[in-house]
Amino acid sequence: MTLLDTSVPVANSVAVSTPAISSHPTPIKRAFTVAVTSGKGGVGKTNLAVGLATLLAQSHNVVLVDADMGLANANVLCGVVPRQNLAHVVEGQCSLADILTHTAARFRFVPGASGIASMAALTQRQREDLLAQLETLQSTSDIVLFDTGAGIGREVLAFTQNVDHVLLVTTPEPTAMLDAYAVLKVLTRAKISGQISMVVNQAKSLHEAEMVHFNIISVAQQFLQTQVPLLGHVLLDPNVPLAVRQRTGFVRAYPRSPATASLRTVAQGVERLLAAARPEASPSFFHRLFSWWG
Ligand SMILES: Nc1ncnc2c1ncn2[C@@H]1O[C@H](COP(=O)(O)OP(=O)(O)OP(=O)(O)O)[C@@H](O)[C@H]1O
Ligand SMILES: [Mg+2]
Repeated sequence: MTLLDTSVPVANSVAVSTPAISSHPTPIKRAFTVAVTSGKGGVGKTNLAVGLATLLAQSHNVVLVDADMGLANANVLCGVVPRQNLAHVVEGQCSLADILTHTAARFRFVPGASGIASMAALTQRQREDLLAQLETLQSTSDIVLFDTGAGIGREVLAFTQNVDHVLLVTTPEPTAMLDAYAVLKVLTRAKISGQISMVVNQAKSLHEAEMVHFNIISVAQQFLQTQVPLLGHVLLDPNVPLAVRQRTGFVRAYPRSPATASLRTVAQGVERLLAAARPEASPSFFHRLFSWWG
C-alpha cells in the first residue's frame, strides 16, 4: 500500500549496460532525490522535511539528510542525538554507516552535512571512498530527502542544483514570497538537473495557498518563462509548534491534525513524482554533487 491508491514502483532502477561483460542490462537501484528549500528562513522546511520522511517511510525506504550547514537541527525533530555527523565521515573519523541512524518514524537519518564544505580538500582516494559510501546509501533507498538551509548560498545550491526535484517552500508572508521568487530566478538561470514545485506552508486555506502560488508564478511566467506547479499546501496549525516543543515531528505527535492531513497530500504528490521519474543513465546525485563542488 502506498499513500496513493495506485501501485508505485519500489524504486527507480537505472539500466546500465556493460557490453564488454554481458549484453544484459544491469539494473542499479537509485533513490529519487528531493531537496526541501526556501528563500526566506524559518518558513517550515525542517518540519515539512521530517513530516514528509515520516509519511513516505510508511511505504518506502526513506533517508533524510540534514543538509542545513548553518543550523543543522533536524535531529531534534527526529529524536536523535548525534555524536558524529557527515563532517566526521569526510574527515575519515568514521564511516557513513556509523552515523546513519534509524528513527522511530521508520526512516533513516544522516546528521549534519557541514562536511560537504571540506570535500574540496580531500585526496582523490578519499573522495572515491566517500562517494562509494554515499552511492551505497542512494542505491539502498527509494527516496533521499535533503533538508537544506534557506537562501541562495553555495552550500544550498549544491543540493538544489543537483537533486531530481526541488520542493520550494514559502508561506503567505510577502517577504517569504519575494525570497521564493529570488530562489526561482537563480535556479531557472542555472543549469539545474531536476524540476521544481512549490509548497505553501502555514496557509489558512487552499484558496490562500493558490493565491500565493498564483502571485509567484504569474511573475515567474512573465520574467523567467518558467512554470512551477503547486504540489500542495500545509495548513497553519498550532499543533506544529506544540510538537516542536515536545522535540518531535507533528506527523508523529498529531497524526490527525490539519497540518498532517494537508501534508499527506504533498506526500502523495512526491509519490506521483517518484512514480513518473524515468530511469536514467546519468551520474548519480552524489556524483553530480562532487563534480559540481569541484
Ligand atoms: N504549518 C505550520 N503551522 C504553524 N507553525 C508552523 C508550521 N510550519 C512551521 N511552523 C513553525 O515555524 C517555525 C519554523 O519552522 P522550521 O524550523 O521547520 O523552519 P525552517 O524553514 O526549517 O527554518 P530554517 O530556515 O531556520 O532552517 C517553527 O517554530 C514551527 O513550529
Ligand atoms: Mg530548518
